[in-house]
Amino acid sequence: MAGPLPLGDPAPTDGRLPADLPIDRDVPFSAYLHVPFCSVRCGYCDFNTYTSSELRGAKQEDYASTLITEIALARRVLGEADALRPMDTVFFGGGTPTLLPPGDLARMLGAATAAFGLADGAEVTVEANPDTVTPEVARTLADAGVTRLSIGMQSAVPQVLAALDRTHRPENVRTAVAAAKDAGLAVSVDLIYGAPGESLADWEASLDAALELESDHISAYALIIEDGTKLARQIRRGEVPTPDDDLQADMYELADARLAAAGFEWYEVSNWSRTAEQRSRHNLAYWRGSDWWGFGPGAHSHVAGLRWWNVKHPAAYAQRLAASESPAAGTERPDEDSRTLERILLLSRIREGIAVDDLAQDKRPRVAGLIADGLVEPAAAMRGHVQLTLRGRLLADAVVRELTD
Ligand SMILES: C[S@@+](CC[C@H](N)C(=O)[O-])C[C@H]1O[C@@H](n2cnc3c(N)ncnc32)[C@H](O)[C@@H]1O
Ligand code: SF4
Repeated sequence: MAGPLPLGDPAPTDGRLPADLPIDRDVPFSAYLHVPFCSVRCGYCDFNTYTSSELRGAKQEDYASTLITEIALARRVLGEADALRPMDTVFFGGGTPTLLPPGDLARMLGAATAAFGLADGAEVTVEANPDTVTPEVARTLADAGVTRLSIGMQSAVPQVLAALDRTHRPENVRTAVAAAKDAGLAVSVDLIYGAPGESLADWEASLDAALELESDHISAYALIIEDGTKLARQIRRGEVPTPDDDLQADMYELADARLAAAGFEWYEVSNWSRTAEQRSRHNLAYWRGSDWWGFGPGAHSHVAGLRWWNVKHPAAYAQRLAASESPAAGTERPDEDSRTLERILLLSRIREGIAVDDLAQDKRPRVAGLIADGLVEPAAAMRGHVQLTLRGRLLADAVVRELTD
């Protein structure tokens, strides 16, 4: 979602899928619904999201109806390709989905359910900024079929929140989590570590505060300095310090130790849950290369090895759909080598890891070297899987390079 869109090939205006696509309806199907609105843009964020002054005529109040026309297009396209399946997971991401009235989210979920069906026990997640979750919002979402709320907490320390340009009130995280739990929703919180000026003690305070919330799931992301953001400009001008890699590594180790001591287990480099059932099935679907349709401006889709992505701006997105055209901007069908590379990249980062048998023949002997370097678990390798150690998770990119270069 971040940065410019890939180039790829032109996408057909009617959205049709190639006739020779190897559709497998046993592969789980997910839906991602992008909501590209934020009240202000955080200084570090380059997600495809817009504040009210950047909307160039696109209207927040029309958004649900516009996206529902893409759902109708997807229903037709997948039906023609004999690729229709009930949704196993649904994810409303952003932007800030909860900036829309909860009734709009319910309407989009209802339209997707009517078009594709919703599998028994489906996971339905909504991302939320803490300031936007009231008991009424949480109840309306739960009544509509939402099962899980993912709350952008980021930090519990006021000066860290200020360094990140966050405008939410830290005390609202607690009330948002309580509202979600009262409505029967599972709760995840997102944290960011390594903000300019953040100390190890600050990070420890945020971890403690997150654990006090007794959520089911915690994501902890190292702050990435994205090109073109306000934060990147501040760093370039020397106004704020560049994040320190060693400190970020110490922060990761502290997070893993604290979370493990509190009963959380890592299942992806940046994600921990108390039980396997509480893992984000939607994100696992991405990492495992399942099929998904991404609805909304800038959203990416993947079906049976074909990828495509929508035009980025909400106004361009609405125009395409108003003209009964597919909002896809480009498409690509990566060859076998690129797909293998991507599989290794994604699967290496999750706990079950890539199967040794899925590595290229000539790379398999390298697993022994990774074990000797303390980067890969020997016991898992004996069972045929490349599972990262704590040190391996800190150096995940280097491990992937070793398994692919
Ligand atoms: C779409 S936002 C979550 C919902 C809501 N917009 C919010 O921020 O509260 C997704 C998450 O991505 C993470 N994120 C965004 N930009 C990041 C960056 N540059 N580095 C690390 N994490 C980032 C934040 O943790 C954020 O919660
Ligand atoms: S609220 Fe979330 S999506 Fe919006 S700018 Fe901030 S981090 Fe990005």
